Amino acid sequence: MDGRFEAAEAAFIEEQWRRLWGVPVVSLGRQYEPAGVEGLVYREDGGAPQGLVTWHVDGDRAEIVTIDAFEQGRHVGGRLLNGAEEELRRQGVKRATIMTTNDNLRAIAFYVRHGYRLVAVHLDAMESVRQLKPEVPKTGQDGLPLQDVIELAKDL
Ligand SMILES: CC(C)(COP(=O)(O)OP(=O)(O)OC[C@H]1O[C@@H](n2cnc3c(N)ncnc32)[C@H](O)[C@@H]1OP(=O)(O)O)[C@@H](O)C(=O)NCCC(=O)NCCS
Repeated sequence: MDGRFEAAEAAFIEEQWRRLWGVPVVSLGRQYEPAGVEGLVYREDGGAPQGLVTWHVDGDRAEIVTIDAFEQGRHVGGRLLNGAEEELRRQGVKRATIMTTNDNLRAIAFYVRHGYRLVAVHLDAMESVRQLKPEVPKTGQDGLPLQDVIELAKDL
């Protein structure tokens, strides 16, 4: 599979976030709007978009806000993450952080494979997310309780 990246427009980010995560995206103690992030879309030449990664830069740190392979298991996620890291390095970012939830074992394994370290577990952090987004379920993937936020980070 050979594809390319393009800068994600806010309208596309908004459309995908509404479909996948809800808007705003709530992280630890902060909320992200589509216009407040940058991102990359990955697509095969001439084809439909296959994935979207978004991030927010703060000085020499960045948070990767969302990463979605629209069809999982085809290495689109890896391409998106590599593309985002390359762009962040270009912008002078030294360290990237990612938050995920305790039920998302596939994402945790994916990030660890890509060199991220587990730096913190924020116990019961999903309670504060639910205060802003009451629709977030109590049960997550594989029937696991959705309660904690796992923080991962990598020096770029
Ligand atoms: C996490 C995510 C981005 C990973 O992207 P991906 O394209 O599926 O993953 P990769 O780039 O590693 O691609 C393929 C790998 O997935 C593996 N895979 C395939 N099916 C799998 C499955 N059911 N469970 C776990 N791994 C699987 C493949 O074996 C392959 O590994 P290999 O290198 O040994 O061949 C993607 O699963 C995703 O979009 N998830 C939903 C959104 C999400 O949770 N994002 C993270 C939020 S913090």
